Amino acid sequence: MKKILVIHGPNLHLLGTREQQVYGSTTLDEINGMLKKFADQEKVELICFQSNHEGEIVDLIGKSKKDNIAAIVINPAAYTHTSVAIRDAIAAVAVPTIEIHLSNIYAREEFRQHSLISPVCYGQISGFGPESYVLGLKAAINIIKSI
Ligand code: DQA
Repeated sequence: MKKILVIHGPNLHLLGTREQQVYGSTTLDEINGMLKKFADQEKVELICFQSNHEGEIVDLIGKSKKDNIAAIVINPAAYTHTSVAIRDAIAAVAVPTIEIHLSNIYAREEFRQHSLISPVCYGQISGFGPESYVLGLKAAINIIKSI
């Protein structure tokens, strides 16, 4: 069974209570549950991971090829706008990666409107709440099936 790695970046463990007017009331466990259900239907294995630590995310991406990960779905959260290290890790492993955001980062503060990550991703999905993750997973599965 092909494996897809889902990475949730900093502060996303607080979903459900964090700035509900921006991120809604769905918790991270609920999002992971939705994704697992969809992955089961599509017969792919899903590995979900949340970290507040840039280096931990870099390590995980760095060993993804060795771990036989077929695709990565990542919400880099605040690291989207700051992390050359996460961008370089994605470029280094060349595992197909989809960037996702719950909120539409282009409709928010100026500092959120630039992603260091998107140039090394297949694409970016932004602004659909928890559905962004499901769309990202769908895209990842389509990529896996086409290569
Ligand atoms: C986010 C957008 C980022 O700007 C922010 O730092 C987050 C969440 C999103 O999913 O909308 O933590 O990635």
